[in-house]
Amino acid sequence: MVIAMVMPTLLQQKGCIYLPCIICIFFFLPKTFKFFKDFLSEKNVYVHVTRLMNKVAVVTGGARGIGAATAKLMAENGAHVVIADILDDLGTSLANSINGRFVHCDVSIESDVEAAVQLAITWKGRLDIMYNNAGIGGKL
Ligand SMILES: NC(=O)c1ccc[n+]([C@@H]2O[C@H](COP(=O)([O-])OP(=O)(O)OC[C@H]3O[C@@H](n4cnc5c(N)ncnc54)[C@H](O)[C@@H]3O)[C@@H](O)[C@H]2O)c1
Repeated sequence: MVIAMVMPTLLQQKGCIYLPCIICIFFFLPKTFKFFKDFLSEKNVYVHVTRLMNKVAVVTGGARGIGAATAKLMAENGAHVVIADILDDLGTSLANSINGRFVHCDVSIESDVEAAVQLAITWKGRLDIMYNNAGIGGKL
């Protein structure tokens, strides 16, 4: 920037002001822009900001494992997340940490699933994403 300001003044006396200005615009500005873009991207500031902004999600089995990781990522992307799980302590503490809600929900009981959906609707007025993740690994 200093060069951009000083050079034209110096060269003005010799009748050549435009060339340095053009060099600065085409050379320094894109580099500055790229620097800030990379910086923000590295800090995860603008990569994660808007993808799920204000979406409302229910994640079954969201207290731990893949469900918990998904719930965190959704929240980082701006979503409001309801964690529906049978693990009350884990689910509640995760929900608190991501500004979400927890509901005790055993997905094998239909009324529990209804209550999870109802919580999302009561809380934010709608449900955009239903991630049916709850399950038990192992041989079938
Ligand atoms: N981890 C793997 O390699 C793998 C591979 C293939 C499929 N999956 C499937 O992905 C899903 C998540 O796997 P994970 O590794 O995170 O498992 P995990 O055991 O770490 O987590 C499962 C979560 O689901 C909850 N849950 C279990 N039964 C439930 C029920 N009836 N109602 C509500 N919540 C219940 C548990 O409390 C837990 O929080 C599961 O459905 C699993 O079968 C996992």
